[in-house]
Amino acid sequence: MLSTPVTRYLPAVFLATALFALLSGCSTPSGDAAQGQRWYTMHNCFACHGTNGDNGKAPEVRPLDMSYRQFLATVRDAGSPIMPTYAAEKISDQDVADIYAWLTSK
Ligand code: HEC
Repeated sequence: MLSTPVTRYLPAVFLATALFALLSGCSTPSGDAAQGQRWYTMHNCFACHGTNGDNGKAPEVRPLDMSYRQFLATVRDAGSPIMPTYAAEKISDQDVADIYAWLTSK
């Protein structure tokens, strides 16, 4: 009786839900640094911050010394007259996390 398909998959469903809550919640989502470097180039961050993140006209962003939350807020709206704003439709949270992984990687 207890080992109906539903009860058997329940732990997996619970785990997936917990994982999703963790990733979309307050902790830093895990990003892929190699992908991040691609997004960084694709979205033209390099035009201002330099191809390596530390060789442009805008402030150095690599190595980056800020939390993911701060970084996300900055990408969404840096409050700068120069740096563009990037809405989630343009750069998803996951892509921002990838960029963050690259900028904070050594
Ligand atoms: C048109 C030029 C330009 C582009 C494109 C641009 N930035 Fe910026 N960015 C700036 C400038 C200028 C600042 C400094 C903010 C200020 O004081 O106005 C800045 C600030 C930042 C900061 C904060 C640095 C700090 O130490 O406070 C981060 C992080 C950052 N940019 C990341 C990015 C990322 C990631 C991208 C691409 C998605 C990007 N920028 C695209 C010009 C640019």
